[in-house]
Amino acid sequence: SGQAMWGGRFSDKPAELMQAINVSIGFDKRLAAQDLAGSRAHAAMLCSAGVIASEDEAAIQKGLDKIAGEIADGTFPFREEYEDIHMNVEARLRELIGPVAGRLHTARSRNDQVALDFRMWVRDACDRTIAQLRALQAALVAQAEAHADTLMPGFTHLQPAQPVTFGHHLMAYVEMFGRDASRFSDARRRMNESPLGAAALAGSPFPIDREMTAKALGFDRPTANSLDSVSDRDFALEALAAATLCGVHLSRLAEEIVIWTTPQFGFIRLSDAFTTGSSIMPQKKNPDAAELVRAKVGRLLGSFTQLTVVMKGLPLAYSKDMQEDKVPTFEAFDALELSLKAMAGMVADLEPVAPRMAAAAGAGFSTATDLADWLVRTLDMPFRDAHHVTGAAVKRAEQLGCDLAELPLAELQALSQGIGPDVYEVLTPSASAGSRKSYGGTAPDQVRAQIKRWKEALA
Ligand code: ARG
Repeated sequence: SGQAMWGGRFSDKPAELMQAINVSIGFDKRLAAQDLAGSRAHAAMLCSAGVIASEDEAAIQKGLDKIAGEIADGTFPFREEYEDIHMNVEARLRELIGPVAGRLHTARSRNDQVALDFRMWVRDACDRTIAQLRALQAALVAQAEAHADTLMPGFTHLQPAQPVTFGHHLMAYVEMFGRDASRFSDARRRMNESPLGAAALAGSPFPIDREMTAKALGFDRPTANSLDSVSDRDFALEALAAATLCGVHLSRLAEEIVIWTTPQFGFIRLSDAFTTGSSIMPQKKNPDAAELVRAKVGRLLGSFTQLTVVMKGLPLAYSKDMQEDKVPTFEAFDALELSLKAMAGMVADLEPVAPRMAAAAGAGFSTATDLADWLVRTLDMPFRDAHHVTGAAVKRAEQLGCDLAELPLAELQALSQGIGPDVYEVLTPSASAGSRKSYGGTAPDQVRAQIKRWKEALA
């Protein structure tokens, strides 16, 4: 007809600007697979409910197969005049099978169609993200296992605090990414209800079977309120919130990698594969991938913020504002996927410089707490007094320009008479780390127990 699909009540064509602001095919073509799956399930249900004849259903399914083939081989004509993916598929179906294509949209609206397609896309994105998180965790666990005994300084305020192991430090991130994965699976469970059959907003007068389409499309059940079904985008917001939090964790690890690779720290080396050079300074090996991962959280939070603002204050039910849900969501998951994969690659390749880390682990009087604990255990001193004596020992060592472990026994005894030579046994970084055997502590055996638990969980 040369008219838009909804052109019956119109005499004039839309203004070019109307088309320009309205068109979404440029981005919602990414919903093609979901749109086809939804249409297949809907057509099968319409047939089984006696709403369309079985030869019509067969023709529709054949046409949809053909379209799937065209999309796969890149010959499908995505056309702006058909506005979005839903009408592009329907228009093509009509070209392929004739007017019977028009029966597919019985008991359906683009409102429940887009709610369905987008929900399935976000559901797939959650599944992919969980798999990417598991791969990153596996890379961290492998490095942690190789370095369960490798000493490094543990920091608070980025000042040396107490010795820990590199394995223990990496396993902290395994915990964070584990929580991230569980947030995506929680969100997935909540979003796994099918909005198909809500139609425009009020439901359908046809004898549709929403349980049947829900089941066919892998949902646990149909959504319970047709108005909510077409106006809810919580599922995307929840996924974007989880993505943002995951981005926060990625940026913290990225920042540590940036710090660790400075010559001043020199704790790790990144592979050539995940670094770049400088066009002017020949000595440079820059951690660009880590820096970009550190930055991507800006996009993730930006996407969450965008969609939150779009949804805020929208009256029920569908409003075209909601077409703005897709771009931020697609962008966020693209950024997150790249970040998770780049981080997994960096982690798998990185090489700790164990001697540098071990030297740093003992610097900055990092075993001072061990001296205080020794005074409590051996001399039965109250911890506050032990803290004071140890502080004085640190001050003395600083004056003499030596480490705590190098302080002569006479100096220590001047601060507390009862101190004997066995105190030196607790003043090495490895004794310090090895002594922290409490559950979740940095002692290599504790770290190995956590590694074992995660290896089983990830297997
Ligand atoms: N392209 C639209 C979107 O992305 C599809 C739904 C349009 N529905 C409507 N009544 N105009 O939200």
